[in-house]
Amino acid sequence: MTAETITAEASGIWKLGDLPVHRLGFGAMRLTGSAAFHLGTPSDRERSLAVLRKAVELGVNHIDTAAFYFSSLRSANELINTALSPYPDDLVIATKVGPYRDYHGEWGTAARPDQLRGHVEENLRQLGRDHLDVVHLRRMRQDSIAEHFGALAELREAGLIRHLAISSVEPRHLAEALEIAPVVSVQNRYAVDRPDPEGDEVLRLCGEHGIAFVPFYAVAGEAGEAAEAGSTTAHDEAVLSVARAHGVSPAQIRIAWTLHQGPHVLAIPGTGNPRHLAENVAAGALRLTDEERARLDEARARRG
Ligand SMILES: NC(=O)c1ccc[n+]([C@@H]2O[C@H](COP(=O)([O-])OP(=O)(O)OC[C@H]3O[C@@H](n4cnc5c(N)ncnc54)[C@H](OP(=O)(O)O)[C@@H]3O)[C@@H](O)[C@H]2O)c1
Repeated sequence: MTAETITAEASGIWKLGDLPVHRLGFGAMRLTGSAAFHLGTPSDRERSLAVLRKAVELGVNHIDTAAFYFSSLRSANELINTALSPYPDDLVIATKVGPYRDYHGEWGTAARPDQLRGHVEENLRQLGRDHLDVVHLRRMRQDSIAEHFGALAELREAGLIRHLAISSVEPRHLAEALEIAPVVSVQNRYAVDRPDPEGDEVLRLCGEHGIAFVPFYAVAGEAGEAAEAGSTTAHDEAVLSVARAHGVSPAQIRIAWTLHQGPHVLAIPGTGNPRHLAENVAAGALRLTDEERARLDEARARRG
């Protein structure tokens, strides 16, 4: 099978609350321009729209986005709305609130709890929806997330949000949130080249509670948001050798490793490149041997 004929179905299914999604999803952050957030060169609009349509054609039904994903001329939410609405019934759009950027793209003060309704409404307007499927509270270094998460729980009660989620959290924040309302997803930075005992613990806790664990920068790795389009960070020899054995790219092995961390672990690789999209979806069909997984895990531990 070529990359183009493999669909996201091959990655299996996980339920975000009552919403089933293929475990291989898509992150919209790279659709807006040459730099992740900042005022880099805006993306080619038609190319970004084509990537979104192709993603859905390839079976992707979980898209992660945010109102703060924009460059001078492009907004991820507007691109999603234009490319995909009327939305397919099975499409789950997850978004994030908390961080704030002004009209010039400068980062402002993170939202206070009473400002979160405005953040949710901005996403509703841009996506053209009456409610949001999944909303992550993106923690902005606050020690306790209780007040912010409580404010989102009220918006869920009011019918603006179907399911709640949290992002960039430690185990204690997950416990705090679960005291307040159900959590369907935790989105944290997590990658094969980043030893992260606390992240491992959050991943394990999510599994115990039946919550999705959704890594970001799984492909970008150490480079994070600074990863230049198409150039991921230097790969460990372990990643390169497993990639050679399967005849696939290192990025695909990074995604496969992510999905092998547990049935509740989802992938949301971000790309503005149609070829990378097909590759990333095809990575959902890769099956690593125990020996290969051990080799990747050992290389990760050695970085610690
Ligand atoms: N919760 C949070 O705080 C948070 C933070 C950051 C991101 N996120 C979410 O997580 C998603 C994933 O993060 P991300 O998009 O930054 O990082 P990523 O998926 O780890 O990596 C994206 C980078 O890797 C490149 N890339 C993607 N597929 C590739 C392939 N097959 N071969 C070679 N290069 C490839 C992309 O360039 P090309 O465009 O050229 O392919 C881009 O530079 C985001 O899109 C966003 O939705 C959440």
